[in-house]
Amino acid sequence: MSETAKLILGGEEFEFPIIEGSENEKAIDISKLRGSTGYITIDPGFKNTGSCGSEITYLDGEKGILRYRGHSIESLADNADFLETSYLVIFGNLPSKAELTKFENDIRKHTMIDEEMKNIIDGFPKSAHPMGVLSSLTSALTAFNPKSLDINSEDQLYNAVCKMLGKFLVLASWVYKKHVGLPLNYYDNSKGYVENLLRLMFEIPTEEYKINPEIVNALDKLLILHVDHEQNCSTSTVRIVGSSHAGLFASISAGVSALWGPLHGGANQAVIEMLEAIKADGGDIDKFILKAKDKNDSFRLMGFGHRVYKNFDPRARIIKKAADDVLGALGIEDPVLDIAKKLEKVALEDEYFKSRNLYPNVDFYSGIIYRALGIPTDMFTVMFAIGRLPGWISQWKEMRLNGEPIGRPRQVYNGETDRPFVELDNR
Ligand code: SDX
Repeated sequence: MSETAKLILGGEEFEFPIIEGSENEKAIDISKLRGSTGYITIDPGFKNTGSCGSEITYLDGEKGILRYRGHSIESLADNADFLETSYLVIFGNLPSKAELTKFENDIRKHTMIDEEMKNIIDGFPKSAHPMGVLSSLTSALTAFNPKSLDINSEDQLYNAVCKMLGKFLVLASWVYKKHVGLPLNYYDNSKGYVENLLRLMFEIPTEEYKINPEIVNALDKLLILHVDHEQNCSTSTVRIVGSSHAGLFASISAGVSALWGPLHGGANQAVIEMLEAIKADGGDIDKFILKAKDKNDSFRLMGFGHRVYKNFDPRARIIKKAADDVLGALGIEDPVLDIAKKLEKVALEDEYFKSRNLYPNVDFYSGIIYRALGIPTDMFTVMFAIGRLPGWISQWKEMRLNGEPIGRPRQVYNGETDRPFVELDNR
């Protein structure tokens, strides 16, 4: 007899099955709870609630383990490239050389964007935050690609994946170019995906952009570290929007909006702004540590803490080393990096952070590398979105192919109970 969970409600005993994943994670299957007991559960922020079974990403917050389709993040960061890792999470296995070459070439077929999209981008003020523009343009792709996707057609699904990866990269670069008032670029099919990202963003008509392999490698590694992270806020958003059978572009657009928040992907921008503020304030680390601990102060140590990792975020460890390597290779002395290291050291020795298992997360060091690569602060979260796109696509695809039901949580009502209507003159 497999393990079950017993619940006693109103003197009656109810039994629910326990399910166990391939990494021995256990869950109580409450899919029949309301039908059999009339009760629901409540769990703000879903801290104890699983929304699905998934074969894409496994993470162990206690041990600081992160794997994409069973491959450790360390092994992928050391040996794979971003498109290879994207193929892995989306299709389930590392591609052969032929599959990878085909994938890269098929993405190249979809990097052109309807020129009328420029009318939309021109409607935004230069000052608009790039994430808001990117979310709008991603949703607008539906208008120019209205044909709905037959999820059961392997070819249509593969083409939609390549189209999403091709167009999103170019749109993200157009968002930047519009933001800085420079002409929009087009993908160069003679170059790689990450090389194109840099070219699309930084090449100007008056001179060729010189590709620096150190920068390409650093950016490629950063993007790999952001590819997926199981059911985080933005991925859960992509899944729940997609569960209504809204299209892939519309679902990804919603994910971009969720990622924008400073408690999620927006933290990489907030980290740099925090470090800059500490520097401008004279570098008094202890003052900001006290603010972060003060319950009456809304200030939080951005880039610290994580819903799942109660140990070091394995990505932060890799990025911290990459930050040293990139700044060393580029000969950059960034005082903000020194402040970050001091802040990390002080926080990790402080009882408040230790007792709450607050460690640096993926966002703590990534902004320092983006800045060294010449990427402006308000584009950091766009870089996160470019990295996370393959994860969003893979999770959306898994949800649809598994035929998951529309996401529709319940609630506990705490409002007014039944009351009579009062005529306007009598109120
Ligand atoms: C990402 O989910 C993912 O996987 C996300 C992500 C991904 O790849 O998709 O990993 C990317 O979003 C990383 C997180 C980036 N966000 C930040 O760096 C923002 C700063 N961090 C916090 O806002 C916070 O740690 C969260 C939002 C990340 C997690 O919040 P939780 O899990 O809801 O934790 P909590 O708010 O319940 O905090 C528990 C305690 C509280 O204190 P007490 O009430 O117990 O006294 O820890 C404190 C919090 O006040 N705390 C912090 C803190 N984070 C938590 N105190 C100071 N500074 C912080 N950063």
